[in-house]
Parts: sequence; C-alpha cells; structure tokens
Amino acid sequence: MRADLVLVGFGNVGRRFAGLVSEVRPRLLDEWDLDCRITCIVTRRHGGAFRPSGIDGVRAADILEETESLEGLHDPAAGAAPRTGFDAIRLVADSTAPLRVLVETTTLNVHDGQPAVDHVRAALSAGLNVVTANKGPAAFAYRELHAKAGAAGLSFLFEGAVMDGIPVFNLVRETLPAVNVLGFRGVVNATTNHILTALEDGEEFGPALRRMQAEGIAEADASLDVDGWDAAAKAAALANVLMDAGITPHTVSRAGIGPQSAAQARRARECGRRLRLVAEGRRGAIPAVGPTELPEDDLLAGLRGTANALVLETDLLGRIVVGQLDSGLTQTAYAVLSDLVAIRRAARREAPARRTP
Ligand SMILES: NC(=O)c1ccc[n+]([C@@H]2O[C@H](COP(=O)([O-])OP(=O)(O)OC[C@H]3O[C@@H](n4cnc5c(N)ncnc54)[C@H](OP(=O)(O)O)[C@@H]3O)[C@@H](O)[C@H]2O)c1
Repeated sequence: MRADLVLVGFGNVGRRFAGLVSEVRPRLLDEWDLDCRITCIVTRRHGGAFRPSGIDGVRAADILEETESLEGLHDPAAGAAPRTGFDAIRLVADSTAPLRVLVETTTLNVHDGQPAVDHVRAALSAGLNVVTANKGPAAFAYRELHAKAGAAGLSFLFEGAVMDGIPVFNLVRETLPAVNVLGFRGVVNATTNHILTALEDGEEFGPALRRMQAEGIAEADASLDVDGWDAAAKAAALANVLMDAGITPHTVSRAGIGPQSAAQARRARECGRRLRLVAEGRRGAIPAVGPTELPEDDLLAGLRGTANALVLETDLLGRIVVGQLDSGLTQTAYAVLSDLVAIRRAARREAPARRTP
C-alpha cells in the first residue's frame, strides 16, 4: 500500500527519518506492504519542494547541507514550490495514494505549541493521517486533536514526543486494554540527564551541554531542556494522553538545572544520593518537573548519560517500567517510523499484508 508523506520540518529528526525510511524500505515492503514515498518537504528558512513522483530523502538531506536550500528538488511541472507547512499539506491532500501522512517535526514552541498544532489541525481537515515527534500537539491540544482524528477515521500519533522510539503511548494504547494509568514518574529528558551525570563526575556544565547540542539531542533552543520546559511538555503530554488531564506545559510546576546544579550534584553523590531531573504526575493532580535528590537504590538514580526511564503506576498491573539506555536521533526517527507502521496496521485490518511478523 502506498503512503505519500509530507515532511513539515527537515532538521535533525526529519533528515534522520528520511534516511531510516530508505534503510528499512525492503522490510517495510516485505513485512507490512508499506511503500513510503516522500512527495513533499518544507522547512521554515530553507525552502520546500514538491515532487509527486517522489523525493529521495537521503539526497534531499545532502542537497540541503550543500546548498542550504531544497528549492532545487522541486518539480516545476507541479506548480509553485510550497512555502509553508499549510501549502505542503494542501499539495499532498490531492494525492490519490491510499495513505497520506503528515510527518511533523518542526521546532517545539513552548508558548502555545504553534505552528505544529495548526499543522495537525490542517492535515486532519484535509484527510491526512498525522505522525509527529513534536510534543506541542499532545501537550497543548490533545483532546481536540484526538477527537478530530477519531471523527475523521484518521490517526494522530506522536510516539516520538516522549522517550524517542521506546513505546509509551503505543504501549498503553495497544497492549494494556482496560488498564487505568494512575500516575507516572520518570527521567524523560536526555540532555539534562547527560549534564547531571557529567556534573556529578566532576565535569563542567557548558561542555556537557555543548556535547548534546553537537549530537543534535538538545533542543534547537537548549534553554528549553535546561529550564525544564521540554520535560514539562512531556509531563503535560503524558498527563493529557494517559490520564485525560486537559492541561498545557504551563500548568506543570517546573524547575530546571544550571551551572549552580554542579555543587548540588556532587554533594548528593558524596552522600550516596543522585541528582536527577524528575517528572511526575498523578491522576487529578498537577504534574511537576524539577531536580530531585534520589537514594542510590532508586531505579531512576541509576540512569546515566542519555538513559531515560518512566514508571507508570496502574490499577491492574501495579508499577510498569519502560526505559532506554541509549537515546539519540535514530531512536526518535524510529518512533516516527513505528507510528507510520501503526497507521499501516490500522489500514491492514481491512486489507491484510502479505506476511505477518
Ligand atoms: N532531536 C531530538 O533528539 C528529538 C527527540 C524527540 C523529539 N524531538 C522533537 O522533534 C522536533 C524536531 O526536532 P529537531 O531536532 O529535528 O529540530 P531542528 O533540527 O531544529 O529542525 C526543525 C525543523 O523544523 C523546521 N521548521 C521550524 N518551524 C517551521 C515552520 N513553521 N514551518 C516549516 N518548517 C519549520 C526547521 O526549518 P529551518 O531549519 O529552515 O528553520 C527545521 O527543518 C522538535 O519538536 C523536537 O522537540 C527531537
């Protein structure tokens, strides 16, 4: 089954996703009968391109790096090149492919989640399924977007918004029927965990942060990580999706880390404790994010570097832990890919794939 993809945002995550789609193409075809074709890419400052016959995503990433523009990839016979995400969505809405999907990986905006929320709204209105790694839509407008997708018979998926490709939302939705999530507690921001681990090992704040920026793991505006906004957006998304909270990241009680955390991290370690940026929430209560000293035998205290883990407290299964020891761009790109396969699976319930894994 062919899926035409419109990539709104083509930065670290978008480019790694395009590469991954190309790397796993034979498996997607063989195992899922999923034929992904990127037909449109648009950025904020580097132009956009529409090519109904398909764009080679790996070549697009190379061209973007060489020329700082995507314009050269545009097919002039297809009209004007898209200039905004909304142009791109309109162009792909005309495709006759059985699956049309918006892959939204624009920058996180912690003020109001825009323009990602409007991109998702526009795509659902135009009949496109939506996959996003951006926390904004689930953190600011989950109820509305989930209802809109449901009414249109479309998917609105965002596994990459929390803990990259490690299933959190998909885990609960697909594998925990009749289970109520009562609360969560976790280390969910790789950049701050890397920095706090480095600080307790005696390193300085600046170099540790710069390493995360160099690897493309820190947010474009790294203050979003260190001030706790990224974790607050994740806490809001978790509370909204798993516990129907109807909140935004601004509701979350939030504290971040900074160079002053070095002394606290080292002191905690000397006392047999560990300083971690913990996000927690309980059904009916306001979630909180902040640096927390944990006893050494706390599961979260043992997370070093970019490792993340989330404990879900449930009514029927007690506490469940999901975690990742390595996080990075491939893991985030995989989250987007896994959501695409989930969309194909939903479609497959009507038209079975060739081989069931
Ligand atoms: N990096 C990670 O490890 C990671 C992990 C999980 C989730 N995420 C989330 O994934 C998203 C993307 O992250 P990233 O690291 O790829 O960010 P990035 O490298 O800064 O890339 C963002 C992309 O979005 C484009 N963009 C921004 N505003 C736009 C707009 N209004 N219309 C169209 N394109 C727009 C940018 O275009 P220009 O370059 O032209 O400005 C760029 O191509 C973020 O929401 C982030 O929170 C990232």
